[in-house]
Amino acid sequence: MTAAKLLVTGASGKLGQQVVKALLNDFAIDPSQLIVTTRNASSLAHLAEQGIEVREADFAKPASLEQAFQGADSLLLISIDTIGQRSQAHANAVAAAAKVGVKHLSYTSMPSATTSPVVFAYEHEASEQAIADSNIANWTILRNNWYFENLPEFNAATLQTGTWLSAAADGRTSQLSRDDLALAAAASLVKSLPGKQILTLNGPEALSADEMAAKINQVVGTDIHVMPLSDEALKQQLDSFGLPEGVVAMVTTMDQHARGGFGDGSSEDYVNLTGRQPRAFTQWLEQRKDALASIAKGA
Ligand SMILES: NC(=O)c1ccc[n+]([C@@H]2O[C@H](COP(=O)([O-])OP(=O)(O)OC[C@H]3O[C@@H](n4cnc5c(N)ncnc54)[C@H](OP(=O)(O)O)[C@@H]3O)[C@@H](O)[C@H]2O)c1
Repeated sequence: MTAAKLLVTGASGKLGQQVVKALLNDFAIDPSQLIVTTRNASSLAHLAEQGIEVREADFAKPASLEQAFQGADSLLLISIDTIGQRSQAHANAVAAAAKVGVKHLSYTSMPSATTSPVVFAYEHEASEQAIADSNIANWTILRNNWYFENLPEFNAATLQTGTWLSAAADGRTSQLSRDDLALAAAASLVKSLPGKQILTLNGPEALSADEMAAKINQVVGTDIHVMPLSDEALKQQLDSFGLPEGVVAMVTTMDQHARGGFGDGSSEDYVNLTGRQPRAFTQWLEQRKDALASIAKGA
């Protein structure tokens, strides 16, 4: 029997790169079993050198997708990063996956995709619906909670200024590391769970902004204070920094999401899928404390 062909889209991205690593290192998948896609094959030349098949696929060009997905048994559709274009792009990818007879599809979504107030939730809801409406017999929706990595990558100003503007009140989110989510996505691709599943992938503890700030201060040595604000006051502050409208809407609605308890679930689905506990926030901070301290110092 030939081994199942596993396909990863978005393999050049921050999550996709970690998924490929997890497939090779944690699941000992032979490179000849893997297909990865990108819009620019030269960006994944290093994977081709390892014996992984690299194909070009642009979700905005449906005609390219059937050829790109041909022969895949299980496909991981990593949501793309262009907010506003994702519903159609992902629907194109799902349609092509269905057309070529993919046996299992995994998709990276977000917690409470159908009910969350987050400004981009509608795109994940539409993508989940496209999958449910397709004739793909087996699929797993991975509702990934927020990444710890958002702290250095998007909220570095919090580390640098010591002020965490928040309209989340006591709302908690069960965040986790991108590496742990990559492991879960790889597990979903390899296991190709039968039937239709929606899994919410959470970290081991739900934390409020105050609780996260206290842990950052303890490990990194910062002095971050949370400034509690109303939705309107947070919007006014962010507008005053000259941030784009879309970013202001994203930040304010993410706080509404936390406040409303749309992302504070348990890690049961994560443990069942991977057989492991995701790292806790303190453990993740310990592993990166020097880099975070440098950011805090503006180095
Ligand atoms: N949960 C969270 O806290 C959190 C935080 C950050 C991001 N995210 C989301 O997680 C997902 C993955 O994030 P990431 O950090 O890995 O993103 P990233 O590093 O920005 O990578 C984006 C990927 O999307 C692919 N892509 C973009 N447009 C495409 C198109 N038209 N057709 C096919 N592929 C396309 C790119 O592939 P090529 O350029 O190679 O074609 C690239 O691999 C995104 O949806 C992102 O919004 C979640």
